[in-house]
Amino acid sequence: MTASPAIAADQLRLSVAPMMDWTDPHCRAFHRVLAPHARLYSEMVHANAVIHGDRARLLAMDPSEHPVALQLGGSEPELLAQAARIGAEAGFDEINLNCGCPSDRVQAGRFGACLMREPALVADSVAAMIAACASLEKPVPVTVKCRLGVDDDHEWERFIAFVDTIAAAGCRMFVVHARNAWLQGLSPKENREVPPLRYDWAYRLKVERPQLQVIVNGGIADAAEATAHLGHVDGAMLGRAAYHTPYLLHELDVRWFGGALRTRGELLRAYRPYVEAQLGKGVFLKHITRHLLGLFSGQPGGRAFRQVLSEGAHRPGADWSLLEQALALTGREGVAA
Ligand SMILES: Cc1cc2nc3c(=O)[nH]c(=O)nc-3n(C[C@H](O)[C@H](O)[C@H](O)COP(=O)(O)O)c2cc1C
Repeated sequence: MTASPAIAADQLRLSVAPMMDWTDPHCRAFHRVLAPHARLYSEMVHANAVIHGDRARLLAMDPSEHPVALQLGGSEPELLAQAARIGAEAGFDEINLNCGCPSDRVQAGRFGACLMREPALVADSVAAMIAACASLEKPVPVTVKCRLGVDDDHEWERFIAFVDTIAAAGCRMFVVHARNAWLQGLSPKENREVPPLRYDWAYRLKVERPQLQVIVNGGIADAAEATAHLGHVDGAMLGRAAYHTPYLLHELDVRWFGGALRTRGELLRAYRPYVEAQLGKGVFLKHITRHLLGLFSGQPGGRAFRQVLSEGAHRPGADWSLLEQALALTGREGVAA
């Protein structure tokens, strides 16, 4: 068995969850400006798509994004191994296997959360992925993102057996979305809200398997909650809160890693070179600004900021000046009334 390389502890503390349709390269480059120390994750890409699809698009990444992980979906060890190697060669710093997505489409393809019922297959997949990435000049870690179980299976023994089986195949790092996935009757959205969170299982995993790196995910809403998790596990992964209130990422990065707190306006302007470069390549502004709408969430002018971007970014020729226009409306009491 070849063990996956370890990830440096300070690279695990803060991460942004993989989110389909959200954590594209524009979003990740924005989050990188906000949180220089965060670990970023791509949207899930199916192994087949990596092998046969439009790689330039699916594996697009800006050099500023590192450290950044590629999340793969799939359940065929050979294909996952091939896709993992392609991802590592494309420059991703980690390959993560999705064992948590409950959507019907994913279930039909027999991957995602239903893999929680197939630890041996996941172990084979992980072993093949690690082997495929081990011979590279810079071996890339292979990790797993999972739930606690599926449906009404609440047996700790089954969860720990799942983790142990995969750890025995060489995987050292697990992102635990700390709730079950219900494979019947709930939409993916409901599956992120209805099954109760049980952080104690992620904590217990770290206590019982201290040699593993454990990241907790699910429902982390603010800096205090995120910080509390660090007393128990190696890191906190934020999804929706990071996307909808991205300044939280900046606050956490400064709180946990040091540095000076910058204003939202300063951060936005620090993102300008990326935006200008993308516009120069023909990218439409709306594809970038959709990820910025929450920057002033809860702040004076936050609604106006959002509105100006939403209404203006799709217009032909929209450029950086729209962001300056939106920014000018912030910081003034009452403007969002
Ligand atoms: C829009 C959206 C898309 C998601 N896509 C993925 C995905 O591609 N892969 C994955 O492992 N989880 C995906 N998730 C789940 C998140 O990674 C995360 O586990 C979940 O949202 C719980 O974390 P949170 O409460 O901090 O948002 C997605 C979540 C959202 C909201």
